[in-house]
Amino acid sequence: MAFPQHIIARKRDGHALTREEIGAFVRGAADGSWADYQLSAMLMAIVWRGMTPQETAHYTEAMMHSGVVADLASIVQPKADKHSTGGVGDKISLHLAPMIAACGVVVPMISGRGLGHTGGTLDKLESIPGFNVNLSLAAYRAQLENIGLALIGQTADLAPADKKLYALRDVTATVESIPLICGSILSKKLAEGIDVLVLDVKFGRGAFMKDQVKARELARALVSVATAMGKPTRAVLTAMDEPLGRTVGNALEVGESIECLRGEGPADVMDVTYTLGEQMLLLTKVVTTKAEARAQLEASIASGAALDKFREMIVAQGGDARVVDDGWRLPRARLLFELRATRAGFVTDVDALGVALAALRLGAGRAKAADAVDHAVGVSGLVKIGERVAAGSVLGVIHANDEGALSEAQGMLAKSVSVSDTQTEAPQLIEEIVGEGAG
Ligand code: URA
Repeated sequence: MAFPQHIIARKRDGHALTREEIGAFVRGAADGSWADYQLSAMLMAIVWRGMTPQETAHYTEAMMHSGVVADLASIVQPKADKHSTGGVGDKISLHLAPMIAACGVVVPMISGRGLGHTGGTLDKLESIPGFNVNLSLAAYRAQLENIGLALIGQTADLAPADKKLYALRDVTATVESIPLICGSILSKKLAEGIDVLVLDVKFGRGAFMKDQVKARELARALVSVATAMGKPTRAVLTAMDEPLGRTVGNALEVGESIECLRGEGPADVMDVTYTLGEQMLLLTKVVTTKAEARAQLEASIASGAALDKFREMIVAQGGDARVVDDGWRLPRARLLFELRATRAGFVTDVDALGVALAALRLGAGRAKAADAVDHAVGVSGLVKIGERVAAGSVLGVIHANDEGALSEAQGMLAKSVSVSDTQTEAPQLIEEIVGEGAG
């Protein structure tokens, strides 16, 4: 058996590793038989030397099998999930999952928490009083059988090697590697027990991958590895320069998702929602055309079925479903501040990263994994690029619980929104669908 240093040296020297060598590395992460310095050295060697598609597939498979893989064979309906690489104001999972479940497709969704400037689905859900994201895999399966929908957090036995490696990558400047990202995302998603997967790969100022070319490369790698592992997958490449929708912050985003389920969602959010939902329904083959998929998704909202599914999920996970009809039951911040336009004109920019950093300053996110979040704070009523505004009209509302944070966030939000005389088009969000038409 090769020692860790021999396997590390082979990658350092640019060789492709065998399935056994990759297996030894991933096992070493999961069972602690490789020291942190050996794991970190290997991660850095991978960042520099890369991995072939074959190595990436072996890596993803080993990561997935480092823990349990949920067995959902007892559920006969098709099972689809969606995953976003993370954005600002990205609340789409909250309303898309019940829309898809209302169309007869089971949605087993295991999500993450927000870290840095991007939000996390679990934090948003936990702003609903009582909502429990910590279900066991047995309870997760039972809920999927009962209501066709569960949104939970990663259990300790799911892809444990990723938990270890992701924590090391975070502090050793080894996050930015396509094979490592691929293995990390797919090991968790493919362990959920899904049949098909749709990915929202974001690029732009508010995304963790700023560069569109790199994001496309990531999307292609994700689609080809997951497809090779027997899970039909597509990736939608979407722009993330402006926040999605008009709210950023946990409870505020839950409120906006409920608006989406009532048919009152902002156009940009619904554009991305329908595009992802169409791909989920097409991949599971419950429809054969995009038009049919779109009609089913629209009907899930118009009939109220998707909103009912959302209520059912809240009740099943111990939450207070009255928030759906009474938004006042969601956490509310103590201090409100309206940022007003100093002149009339057109909104030419709303910087997603700037808004996200303002929300982070207010306490909506966490700088370190152990930080607590304040579910009530954030920004609502944000204007959108291309809108005409009058002098004195509201550009966004800050929700805060701390005077100091509020005063800093005011300046940060003001710098993030630009108004000028130039009439600007609302940006196009959907860049490309990777894997579409691949058969
Ligand atoms: N999200 C993940 O889960 N893993 C990565 O490596 C990057 C983003």
